[in-house]
Amino acid sequence: MGNPVLDRRAAEVGDPDSLELRALVADMRDTLDRAGGIGLAAPQIGVSQRVVIFYVPDDSEDRPEDISDLTLRVLVNPVITPIGKKQEEDWEACLSVPGLQGLVPRYTRIRYQGLDLGGAPIDVEAAGFHARVVQHECDHLDGVLYPKRLKDLSKLSYVQEWDPISRSAAEEEAVV
Ligand code: NI
Repeated sequence: MGNPVLDRRAAEVGDPDSLELRALVADMRDTLDRAGGIGLAAPQIGVSQRVVIFYVPDDSEDRPEDISDLTLRVLVNPVITPIGKKQEEDWEACLSVPGLQGLVPRYTRIRYQGLDLGGAPIDVEAAGFHARVVQHECDHLDGVLYPKRLKDLSKLSYVQEWDPISRSAAEEEAVV
């Protein structure tokens, strides 16, 4: 957060089947897997191009327990269209905003379109956690980090502070 590459609109990819794009996606996958994350956008590794990768949950309505079984999706030049106006808030974290989490409103149902690595079209309807991940990653391509989406800055916290156990300990200390 604070690096200019994360604040600007990333460029469209011209050729979705180039060696350069394959190398970029391989770098992104390395970074994502080392960090144990669920999604990553190219600007997060300093490349201002419209590419995101993410693990697709099998059950789009539920937060996955274990990402190791999930399929990695590469999405180039994505376009998101909300389905309906309903939004829900849930906690998000981001590899570009380490140590923090925030309560972020997102559309509950979306359609997303784009190209995969190689150029085949992708056209998917997604809901729940799947839809949230795609919205979070694609925001990176428009220079938007999730704290900009918060309605209430009191819902931005250090992950460890929000842990229910450490939170109750901190409150006890404050009372004493
Ligand atoms: Ni992020």
